[in-house]
Parts: sequence; structure tokens; C-alpha cells
Amino acid sequence: MATIINGKDVAASVIDQIKSSTLALEASDGIKPGLAVVLVGADPASQAYVGSKSKMAKECGFKSAQYSLPENTTQEALMTLVAGLNADPSIHGILVQLPLPKHLNSEAVIQLILPEKDVDGLHVVNAGKLATGDSETGLISCTPAGSLILVRTIRGDDLSGLNAVVIGRSNLFGKPMGQLLLSKNATVTMAHSRSKDLPGICSKADILVAAVGRPEMVKADWVKPGATVIDVGINRVPAPEKGEGKTKLVGDCDYAACEPVAGAITPVPGGVGPMTIAMLMANTVIAAYRKAGKKAPSF
Ligand code: GUN
Repeated sequence: MATIINGKDVAASVIDQIKSSTLALEASDGIKPGLAVVLVGADPASQAYVGSKSKMAKECGFKSAQYSLPENTTQEALMTLVAGLNADPSIHGILVQLPLPKHLNSEAVIQLILPEKDVDGLHVVNAGKLATGDSETGLISCTPAGSLILVRTIRGDDLSGLNAVVIGRSNLFGKPMGQLLLSKNATVTMAHSRSKDLPGICSKADILVAAVGRPEMVKADWVKPGATVIDVGINRVPAPEKGEGKTKLVGDCDYAACEPVAGAITPVPGGVGPMTIAMLMANTVIAAYRKAGKKAPSF
């Protein structure tokens, strides 16, 4: 029986810390953290994510600004909006929800965001600071930062001597996750769809992090007995057992099969998901503290 890593509970304690840091900053400096969330188009999943981000920002006591732009927004209009948010002193964090509609150049938009307001941690300056170990001034991508906190609940802060395998090499998740695990002294293998013998690589992992976007790809015999399994996948699949046309969310790991083998595992939903939003709020409060010239809280 694995320990079930409850992301909702861990996220709730991060949110509590954010709320008290927010109150303290307002009391000492009269500054309220400000988060701007930008959505282009009407993708239902993105609308839902953006809605929860804005709602959580308000709950944390932030100034929350949501910009919902039509599908046919031009690159120029989007760049103008971001430039305005860069210049707005009441905004400490800017998040442009991805993916953007196909006619827009996401990279140009992301790189326009001021690094100190890039609460998604996607700007090359923040990616570079993570790679060179500058956690004092950089901002770290939310899902990897949240996943590392979940790993720490089981393995502590020092991962010396442990093998970590990350499946997936995206800029948004896999690469920063690998860097974070390395910064905590794990021996890190970055695996991906072109790796030879994925099951064999994974079965050596004390910490296995799956972010491939393939429903239930990781099977029980990929998991080393006692391993810590972090499932970053959120896949919607048909669930005929719930009724005709019904769907459910599953991760990248076959949870029912992996759970008896793992030492600890995150469920989907309720594992990594809640941590992503919590870390977005954490990055916003960190950005606001830094702007005020104060030492930022750490999470
Ligand atoms: N779309 C899915 N996940 C994310 C994320 O973490 N940040 C942004 N900006 N868009 C996303």
C-alpha cells in the first residue's frame, strides 16, 4: 500500500502561507500582489483553468485582473496588452494561458513579459537562472515547483543518492523538473518518447515523474518497488462505465496497477493539479515582495 500524496492538502497549506504573506506585505508596505491572467479564444479547458486561477488570486487577497480576448486577436494587440501590463506597477505577475490560437506566436509573447513578472517561469532569463542555480532572483515554472514540494513531503529536501527519472522534456515541465531535482542532488535521467527501453529506465527510479500526456502509459512493472511516483498527466478519457458519453480524468500512470508497487503516489485528480495553481500564487507573492525590495517568502 502506497502513501497517497494528497496534493489538495499540501496546496491548501501553501495557500495559507500565501494569504499570511499577502496580509503582511499590505500591512507593512501597503502593497497588494497583482496577477493578470490573459486568455485568448474560447477553449473550454483553458477557460476553466483561467477561471480557477483568477478565483484563487482573489481568495489569496490579490488584485486579480483577467483579460479574455477573442480568438481572432492579432499578435500586435496581444503584444500591446502585455507591454501595458509590463508597465503597470499594480501588476506583479503576468500569465498568458497556453496554448494560444495557432495564428499567434507564443514564444514572442512569452519573451516580451518582463522576467520579474513572468510567474510562469517561461522567460529564457528565468529558465537560465534555474539552470545556473539562481533561486534568489528567478521565478520557477509552477507545475515543476509544485511537484518538487510533493516529492519533498516524502523524501525530504536532500535527494542525495536517489535516482530520479523524468519522462517528458517540455520547456513548461520536463526540463525545469529535471533541473529542480538536480538542484536537490538527485541523479537525474531525462527520458522521452525517443528513449530506448523506457520501462527499463523507469524501473531504476527512486523518484519517477511522468509528464507525457499519454493516458495510463506507465505500468506497474515500470515502477521500482517503494518508488515515489509523481503523475503530472491530466488526460480526459471516455468512461462508459459511468454512462453513455461520460468521461473521466486519468493520469499518465496506470494508478490502480502502480499504487500497490509504489511507496508513495499522487492521484489524478487531486495530486499535482492543485499544486500548479498554488505555485502560481506563490510566484506572484514572491514577485510582489521583490518589487517592494523585501526578502520573499520561500515555499
Ligand atoms: N496551459 C497549461 N498549463 C499551463 C501553465 O502552466 N501555464 C500557462 N501559461 N498555460 C498553461
